Amino acid sequence: MNTKSSLPIYKPAEQYQPNSKLSAQPSDMSLRASSIHNDNARNIFIETYGCQMNVSDSELMTGILTQAGHRTVSDIDDADVILLNTCAIRENAETKVINRLKHLNHRKRREGNLIIGVCGCMAQHLRDKLLDAAPYVDIVMGPDAYRNLPMALNAVVSGDPFLGLQLNKAEDYADISPIRKEGVRAWLTIQRGCDKMCTFCIVPFVRGRERSIPQKILKSDVERLVDEGFKEIVLLGQTVNSYNDGNHDFGELLWSIADVEGIERVRFTSPHPADATDSMIDAMENCPKVCKQLHLPLQSGSTQVLERMRRTYTAEEYRELVYKLRERIPEIALSTDVIVGFCGETDEDFTETYMLMEEIRFDSAFMFKYSDREGTLANKMLDDDVPEKEKGRRLSEIISLQERISTDINQSKIGTAVPVLVEGNSKRDSEQYHGKSDTFKTTVFPKDKANIGDIVNVEIHSASAHTLIGQIAE
Ligand code: 5AD
Repeated sequence: MNTKSSLPIYKPAEQYQPNSKLSAQPSDMSLRASSIHNDNARNIFIETYGCQMNVSDSELMTGILTQAGHRTVSDIDDADVILLNTCAIRENAETKVINRLKHLNHRKRREGNLIIGVCGCMAQHLRDKLLDAAPYVDIVMGPDAYRNLPMALNAVVSGDPFLGLQLNKAEDYADISPIRKEGVRAWLTIQRGCDKMCTFCIVPFVRGRERSIPQKILKSDVERLVDEGFKEIVLLGQTVNSYNDGNHDFGELLWSIADVEGIERVRFTSPHPADATDSMIDAMENCPKVCKQLHLPLQSGSTQVLERMRRTYTAEEYRELVYKLRERIPEIALSTDVIVGFCGETDEDFTETYMLMEEIRFDSAFMFKYSDREGTLANKMLDDDVPEKEKGRRLSEIISLQERISTDINQSKIGTAVPVLVEGNSKRDSEQYHGKSDTFKTTVFPKDKANIGDIVNVEIHSASAHTLIGQIAE
């Protein structure tokens, strides 16, 4: 059994200087160009769990590994290294990974030389305790240590596990070129970490303090993405609209990204209501390429609960923000996140959430039962006192409410035409395409003469809670 004291803890490599490119020309892609020859090249499979930020981090890891001469493979059976890029936001996210590790260990026992790494938020959360649960894991690496992946692969040959768990406020990976799958939509990390300290949330503890990548670098990233054929950019950050690189705020960044020639659409996720400034709203209202769609996490409709969550806004302020957004941008589609059963949530608090959701009528919502996470402020200060069964009951209530609302809103689009960016073949029928509307609704329609990457007007003739169905308008 591994113990804390016997484990070697590797520090980030000194030769790497995270922000070194910031003063260089943004077009200096020295680290982005070709990969080096590596006699110990490995075949690496990366399996991604959790949010879009993790998907984006896996693309970053692929960039780092490829640049060091390794290969990433799309078939897990071809891999001699398997990296799980993990999530820690709720307990079940971690349970899933522990079960997956047990399964991978069977293969490791059979093959002997398989390297297994756990990267990302769960690695940072559980640290070396992860090795108590899964002693056969070779690499435990948090989100700020990915530059050390090539070094870790060399180091584990000695048999000792490699731990890369230092959070580093200076690490923004701005000089690294992620390797993305081909497609029409690229996700671009503009900010890492979080300074908000919501009491339920593990993110600040596993992703560290907030840092923004300079606008100049992001703009040149987007120019390169256009050259690679991407049409839509989704800006990513934990509280994306608190972006500030010292010279530019989020609204300015939106204008500047939309200004890149060849970009058809710009979106972003996830903003924090407290940072929904006029500068952001102005860009959404007046910049035609910024999509009229906003994911605005509410979390609770009760001001008392919001206070305990330290969300820094009241239910009334959230409601006012929604009214303001709808006044300025009448066609805006709004989605949200809601947690039920947070510490001390009474029946009355829950009813307030239910009623606010009923009043606002979000286009869609991600809804969760509160999950107590070790290390969070709520875990230290508050009692997780709503019984599991009651959390489940409250969750089912808002899920049914939201399904009704989403169906209603989508069906109200029947007979109208919506602009859709064509993404690829529909999963169910290769004669049909799927794509997203400007409002980020999945839309399915016969191919007609359209091509992937086109924006077409689709006339909607039927709709469910999650999909619009139609045909390209004459
Ligand atoms: N329990 C349940 N849901 C959570 N979220 C964040 N932390 C927790 C938790 N401890 C939800 C929030 C957040 C979304 C990404 O996950 O709604 O907006």
